[in-house]
Amino acid sequence: MSVAKPLPHDSARGHVTGAARYVDDIPVPVGCLHLAFGLSEIAHGRVTEMDLSAVKSAPGVRLVLSPDNLIPMPDCSPSIHDEPLLGGPEVKYLGQPLFIVAATSHLAARRAARLAKVSYEKAPAILTIDDALAANSRFEDGPRIWARGDAEAAIASAPNMLEGQLEIGGQEHFYLEGQAAMALPQEGDDMLVHSSTQHPTEIQHKVAHALEVPMHAVRVETRRMGGGFGGKESQGNALAIACAMAARATGQPCKMRYDRDDDMMITGKRHDFRLGYRVGFDDDGRVQGIEFLHWARCGWAQDLSLPVADRAMLHADNAYWLPHVRIESHRMKTHTQSATAFRGFGGPQGMIGVERVMDHIAHHLGADPVEVRQRNYYSSEGSTTPYGQTVEDFELDGITEALLASSEYAARKQAVADWNAKNPVLKKGIGFSPVKFGISFTLTHLNQAGALVHVYQDGSIHMNHGGTEMGQGLFQKVSQVAASVFGVDPSVVKITATDTAKVPNTSATAASSGADLNGMAVKIACETLRTRIAEHLSEIHQADPATVQFADGQVRVGDRTISFSDAAKSAYEARISLSATGFYKTPKLAWDRIKGEGRPFFYFAYGAAVTEVVIDTLTGENRILRTDILHDAGNSLNPALDIGQVEGAYVQGAGWLTTEELVWDNDGRLRTHAPSTYKIPACSDRPDLFNVDLWNRENREETIYRSKAVGEPPFMLGISAFMALSDAVSACGDTYPDLQAPATAEQVLAAIGRAQR
Ligand code: MTE
Ligand code: MOS
Repeated sequence: MSVAKPLPHDSARGHVTGAARYVDDIPVPVGCLHLAFGLSEIAHGRVTEMDLSAVKSAPGVRLVLSPDNLIPMPDCSPSIHDEPLLGGPEVKYLGQPLFIVAATSHLAARRAARLAKVSYEKAPAILTIDDALAANSRFEDGPRIWARGDAEAAIASAPNMLEGQLEIGGQEHFYLEGQAAMALPQEGDDMLVHSSTQHPTEIQHKVAHALEVPMHAVRVETRRMGGGFGGKESQGNALAIACAMAARATGQPCKMRYDRDDDMMITGKRHDFRLGYRVGFDDDGRVQGIEFLHWARCGWAQDLSLPVADRAMLHADNAYWLPHVRIESHRMKTHTQSATAFRGFGGPQGMIGVERVMDHIAHHLGADPVEVRQRNYYSSEGSTTPYGQTVEDFELDGITEALLASSEYAARKQAVADWNAKNPVLKKGIGFSPVKFGISFTLTHLNQAGALVHVYQDGSIHMNHGGTEMGQGLFQKVSQVAASVFGVDPSVVKITATDTAKVPNTSATAASSGADLNGMAVKIACETLRTRIAEHLSEIHQADPATVQFADGQVRVGDRTISFSDAAKSAYEARISLSATGFYKTPKLAWDRIKGEGRPFFYFAYGAAVTEVVIDTLTGENRILRTDILHDAGNSLNPALDIGQVEGAYVQGAGWLTTEELVWDNDGRLRTHAPSTYKIPACSDRPDLFNVDLWNRENREETIYRSKAVGEPPFMLGISAFMALSDAVSACGDTYPDLQAPATAEQVLAAIGRAQR
């Protein structure tokens, strides 16, 4: 069976040779126009005058669209219709698109966009969480509060109490391929859109709405993205809509791709958070009562901020039993880019809060941070999450024991202490953190998927489903599922572009559920076809259909064996339909987000990491020396791809908490809008020693071949790097260093100062 085989990514060769086609590589028809946005230069205020005459007369310009000639103004929002395609007269953030230029080349459009003369009347901008709190600028009327028991009383009566605050920076997605779209006018009102999106159905929906046509008039195709990481769930809407509007106006094909700087200025990023905590605990470090305060900076439009902030609340417990707990979440509205989905979808921000608390407790008691964590783990005595879901599949006891042994945690902890005793300048630290991540969309109706599978008369198979490929290997995994059902080599299964005309009403490929949902839908479609073929063959060979076997490219019926392609041909000639759809919806879910109660998740994915770092106490510079990870992917559908996901996610998570720093100036201008000023991890930043292993236990729930989702959970293993840095800083003095994120060299240096106080 091809499931569980460590096959390479189906496009691995294409990725490295350049043959893999992205939106910008699609050969364009004659007359294709290229689009660019003109961007606002202020964060908040009004456009008093916009003189676009120089733009219109610039070389190559064919069309300029502005609020004057785009009526009604299309909306780009994935949630509440609060995102006009173009700003003006009111301006909501610096970088907001104000007009569209369509020209004969990408460069001509960009050059022309700079020639606008725009006058503004500036208004005070709400940029920071403090600004927003002062102005009570927020989404939803007030904070969302979920609680169990009496946290305040439990904290007051506990033998020990600690409190603290953690600032957590945002994160730029830095997908390799920038946002891109192309719209091709078809006959009548129809529009074909190629989009680099995780959510083709949303593009279809928004483009149809903008063009004022039914959804059936718009077809969206997505072959692959050069990374999405959540940044292409909603942030591609603006480009696709702009292209469609310009294509409608001119009758010509239109395409648009953001230059990297524009991409960073225009699109939303991970939400930065401020997190407050108060915890009461016993002398062994067991939590008795805990209170969390979350402040999320959401930017100018709502986008996906409410579910992101909800997921942060849903991960405030991470792996720990919190008997009395209160979580209060504030969703602040600011004049900055609209923060959006990013790998983990708020989970990382929620989770690092309780990991900080565990670190703080261990430091206070002088106890081992791993032991304090283990004492607080979910167990038979405490197995219900703050939101009432029972943790039935807790894998972390076993994972932790195995990882501590394989990483030689105890011996290395001693070696770090010995090193630190001898070395005054370079200090080492070792950190551990576990992950328990909930799998399913918290908006229950999104947990559905469809598939369309054809078997052609030569035995070749065409596979299509609603999931999108962004590098994570979804297409390969799902093709392994199809190949396994038919007992054929994966090369027999054609992987095809996501297409809203083949599978309708799909969910975004997100929440790590791509393989869980689409794998199941494809399996169901394939099984329908296999049953049809089996029944046909058993009829002509007078065998029991249940005994027909599909393996190794052959079909066995009774004592006869024929090739799969002969079986397909025979079924075709007998007039058997060789095309089928499949549909799957996740069972067991029930969730009330207002009360914060129910079963939002089908199951949990687990993992743990040990990271060792070294810091230079004179400069704050730091690096990761070694990382050991044990991660739970259930019965892995493809261990090679899953290990790749774990490695990449860890490095991305560590980048979020170390070098990746977003800086806005006092005018609300993002100053870090290129790789020269925004530091993502390079190959050289990956741990010198990087041991990644999978915890091969089957999922207790009936998922696709008992596998587990793997896309996002390992991102949060990067928290162990932050814990290791905190440990290294703690070697510099006796006070809790209160390290803030991202732990840039500056922050590490500041924390050293606090530790020495
Ligand atoms: N891996 C790669 N290479 N590129 C990506 O853009 N996105 C991540 C993760 N892994 C991403 C990735 C995010 S945010 C999610 S939700 C999942 O992949 C989505 O795919 P899946 O559901 O198939 O795991
Ligand atoms: Mo991932 S943040 O759910 O696209």
